[in-house]
Amino acid sequence: MKSLIAFLALAVMVGVPVALQAAGPSVPLDAVKVDVTNEASLQRGARLYFNYCMGCHSAQYMRYSRVGRDLGLTENQVIHSMIFTTDEDGELVNPGSLITNAMTADYGEEAFGVEPPDLTLVARVRGEDWLYTFLRGFYRDNSRPLGVNNIVFDNVGMPHPLWELQGWQEKHLDANGVSRLRVVEPGRMSGPEYDRAIRDLVTFLSYLAEPMQVERQRIGVYVMLFLIVFLGLAYLLKKEYWKDVH
Ligand code: HEC
Repeated sequence: MKSLIAFLALAVMVGVPVALQAAGPSVPLDAVKVDVTNEASLQRGARLYFNYCMGCHSAQYMRYSRVGRDLGLTENQVIHSMIFTTDEDGELVNPGSLITNAMTADYGEEAFGVEPPDLTLVARVRGEDWLYTFLRGFYRDNSRPLGVNNIVFDNVGMPHPLWELQGWQEKHLDANGVSRLRVVEPGRMSGPEYDRAIRDLVTFLSYLAEPMQVERQRIGVYVMLFLIVFLGLAYLLKKEYWKDVH
């Protein structure tokens, strides 16, 4: 018994600091609520992804046709609004293809010092709040090679892909000594508009990482309905079986 107590005490002593360390980044993340069943939001997010991210990042575990089907787009819309990648003959790749791009690992490393990672699963790895804070967290920093840094990803190798929309932010300390970002050069969108656009983009990334979640929620409703009906039937049956006993 004594050794068990000693063991538990040790586990707490070792475990608590580890748990605290793993509690997350020092910058608090902004929470976002995404709704992957909102088709319009998914479509707007996909448009941002294919226009602003695909040049550097692939989503090579997903096919264009699947995205099109899940987002309620026709094949023509998929071809005209999502596919910019060409094959060796210079033809647009077909909608059944995986979502790859022409960026090679060598080129990525040469240009940015690090290869832009594939984004298919990034929402699972980083979480939605992190992505939401990251994509709104770029600020000017002249000590960096690209002149830009990020509040949750220090010394990031990625340029700010959406500066035209958000404008440029700078970091300053508020009265409590906490780092805050402030837009110093406005972009095409206002602050709330940009936040909404990023929510759409994170919604799309969340769908991309787990496309079944849309289907799963729909099936879940039917399962619950079935269980409720079945409960009613089971109750009636029970009454029928026991009516002669009582
Ligand atoms: C000009 C090329 C370029 C464009 C365009 C670009 N990125 Fe990146 N991105 C990078 C590079 C390079 C990195 C790696 C940064 C590092 O590790 O320091 C990166 C990293 C990331 C990461 C962090 C991944 C991780 O888990 O470490 C995310 C998320 C991301 N990009 C999302 C996006 C999104 C969303 C867009 C479109 C709005 C976008 N990127 C557009 C080059 C780009």
